[in-house]
Amino acid sequence: MKQSTGKLTIAVLFGGRSGEHEVSLMSARSVLSVLDRARYEVIEVGITQAGAWLTGENVLAAFEQGKVAALLPVCLHPDPSKPGLYGIRSSGVGEVLEKLAEVDVYFPVLHGSYGEDGTLQGLFELADVSYVGAGVVGSAVGMDKGVFKDVMRAHGIPVVESVLALRSEIETDLEAVIRSAEAVSAYPLFVKPANLGSSVGVTKCRSRADLAEGLLEAAQYDRRVLIERGIPDPREIEIAVLGNAAPQVSVPGEVVPGADFYSYDAKYVLDNSALNIPAVLNAAQEAQIRDVAERAFRAVDAAGMARVDFLISRSGEVFLNEINTIPGFTRISMYPKLWEASGLPYPELVNRLVELALERKAERDRTVHQYRRNA
Ligand SMILES: Nc1ncnc2c1ncn2[C@@H]1O[C@H](COP(=O)(O)OP(=O)(O)O)[C@@H](O)[C@H]1O
Ligand SMILES: [Mg+2]
Repeated sequence: MKQSTGKLTIAVLFGGRSGEHEVSLMSARSVLSVLDRARYEVIEVGITQAGAWLTGENVLAAFEQGKVAALLPVCLHPDPSKPGLYGIRSSGVGEVLEKLAEVDVYFPVLHGSYGEDGTLQGLFELADVSYVGAGVVGSAVGMDKGVFKDVMRAHGIPVVESVLALRSEIETDLEAVIRSAEAVSAYPLFVKPANLGSSVGVTKCRSRADLAEGLLEAAQYDRRVLIERGIPDPREIEIAVLGNAAPQVSVPGEVVPGADFYSYDAKYVLDNSALNIPAVLNAAQEAQIRDVAERAFRAVDAAGMARVDFLISRSGEVFLNEINTIPGFTRISMYPKLWEASGLPYPELVNRLVELALERKAERDRTVHQYRRNA
């Protein structure tokens, strides 16, 4: 539904409640800078760390400066008969909802929990709106490293050996968790919160003492913690997938972390990691990575976009490490750079994602929700 201007209205959502709030602001800065204003009416919606949705003028700049007091609280109603964004204003009688704008496509540029994990996508589904990226299942399975690995195993896709532990088990019987972790493999082991990204809470453990510390660290961030075999000096290869039912795969890229592993600091602080695009791989490895990336995308029912990350051992074995359904999206991030290297410039990539969101909504709308009994 185009508005009177003939433009599509895109609501770009950024910030959010996860530990990747700041990363989201960086991604959103780039997305907002390339959205073609001749084509789109753009509404910025910032979500605070506490979960408040705010809009107004120059929302992103206000978030970057931490000065959000003047912005207007908004909400998306879960009732599909009340579409669009509503402003929430205080009046003498309480809070009043006031229709602000119709929105054609929601573009969540949110990483991690409450943005990339299916929860926000659940609201989009309830509200029956078009949105960029994977739906509820694809987002949730892509986010949860434990469930994701099990799904990959069920599809015969190679992932490293791992075991899950609950926070409650770590707290009540650390010894038993350590024993089950040591049964997975010799050290080094990697410990990670099941649902997080940007390497927050990820520890490389070389000893039992490291493991105990890493488990407690990861357990702060999630109820479930994944412990897996560490691949010594892995090559880290990432590839971008774009599409819905017939996804396309980009050229592969390689990350060379500027630290012992691709830690939070290596990603965002040290600024000494290199991205090599295209990655130099032998033909068999490249073919395997392309094929596995597409199969993984389909297996989790991803949509729109995803970046699929691999680890290659020194002996050349390829393991799928993770899928990111809302990958880093700055101009210097791997996902847009992989598409640029594959012939799709960043502004066109964003246009394509909007088209894919509309296409997926049209496909969803074909689903019958009332049982049609045969006469
Ligand atoms: N099993 C592993 N073996 C070797 N390195 C690993 C392993 N798992 C993770 N790493 C390192 O830790 C980084 C972060 O782990 P990852 O699973 O990608 O979590 P995140 O979602 O936070 O990016 C990887 O990029 C890699 O450098
Ligand atoms: Mg990663």
